[in-house]
Amino acid sequence: EMRVRATRVLPSDAAGIAEAARLLRAGALVALPTETVYGLGCDATDPLAVASLYAAKGRPSFNPLIAHVPDIAAARRVGILTPAAETLAARFWPGPLTLVVPALEGATSELARAGLASVAIRIPAHPVAQAVLAASGRPIAAPSANRSGHVSPTTADHVRADLDGRIDLILDAGPCAVGVESTIMDCTGSTPVLLRPGGLPREAIEAALGFPLADTAPSLETAGSQTAPLAPGMLASHYAPSVPVRLDVHHVQPGETLLTFAGARPPGSEAAALVRDLSPSGDLVEAASRLFALLRELDAGGAGGIAVVPLPRHGLGEAIADRLRRAAAPRPD
Ligand code: TXA
Ligand code: MG
Repeated sequence: EMRVRATRVLPSDAAGIAEAARLLRAGALVALPTETVYGLGCDATDPLAVASLYAAKGRPSFNPLIAHVPDIAAARRVGILTPAAETLAARFWPGPLTLVVPALEGATSELARAGLASVAIRIPAHPVAQAVLAASGRPIAAPSANRSGHVSPTTADHVRADLDGRIDLILDAGPCAVGVESTIMDCTGSTPVLLRPGGLPREAIEAALGFPLADTAPSLETAGSQTAPLAPGMLASHYAPSVPVRLDVHHVQPGETLLTFAGARPPGSEAAALVRDLSPSGDLVEAASRLFALLRELDAGGAGGIAVVPLPRHGLGEAIADRLRRAAAPRPD
């Protein structure tokens, strides 16, 4: 059961980092910044800490967690880096990339892996995450620091809004630069597979591998179905604001707010309750970094729904489209 905790917020200075590492080693729940989104961290080797993390998030426990480590040497203690994983790790770690590889038995708790024989590993680039991981000396399991089913947090305030009273510490390092979660690549087989588009664009991975990746759109669309999804946590409605979201909108309906891009103003915009532009200059990197904060703002705007204009699909546009598709998906209840 979830226990009530006094949630402290500390700045990410040397004292804050030391306290975060001390708490993590003691089995506590600590929200920490990464360059993608804020993660809710705990010691991945401690099944009690992992269980309390699932409870704090209200997350279904079949959903495996990413093990965060400070460097390649630590990654090799958690999983077996296959040839494809070696190539991608050398090119993109530290960074917004998660690699799924065969797990080293006993290196992380089975609960953190949800019983799978594989493990998802990431080396984040954020200097605060790096410092906490190095100081804790443990692989840190860290899902996004939101209640299950809510939008991922890109500021310490987002974390507090979702998890105040449920976790021990929030380390505040300001807004996250990338703003969408890491790209997840399954490297367990001979052909690497893109499981989740994210902060590292597909094009960069294809250039490093020297061949194109299979189209993942069909599997992402079935990710919430009964059949085993590729990334088991990717429930179709994972990124869900409380009001309906309409995509690829060419006419804004009365009572809707508008999420737009590059200054676009489709008919009906004049009457929109609120208009927010992901990137007035049409920059997809800026758009990704602002996506979750603007979704939260429009959701809180008290309107009947959120209308979203069509967006480009290249580069980070693939991850943005994926998150928006989930935000617009029918709700389970
Ligand atoms: O950017 C990120 O990846 C953030 C920051 C905090 O690092 N973390 C994050 O974690 O987004 P989370 O738990 O929200 O998403 C992890 C995803 C889930 O969809 C989960 O199912 C998948 O990774 N995953 C974890 N282990 C896996 C495995 N062994 N095989 C396939 N998918 C796995
Ligand atoms: Mg998440």
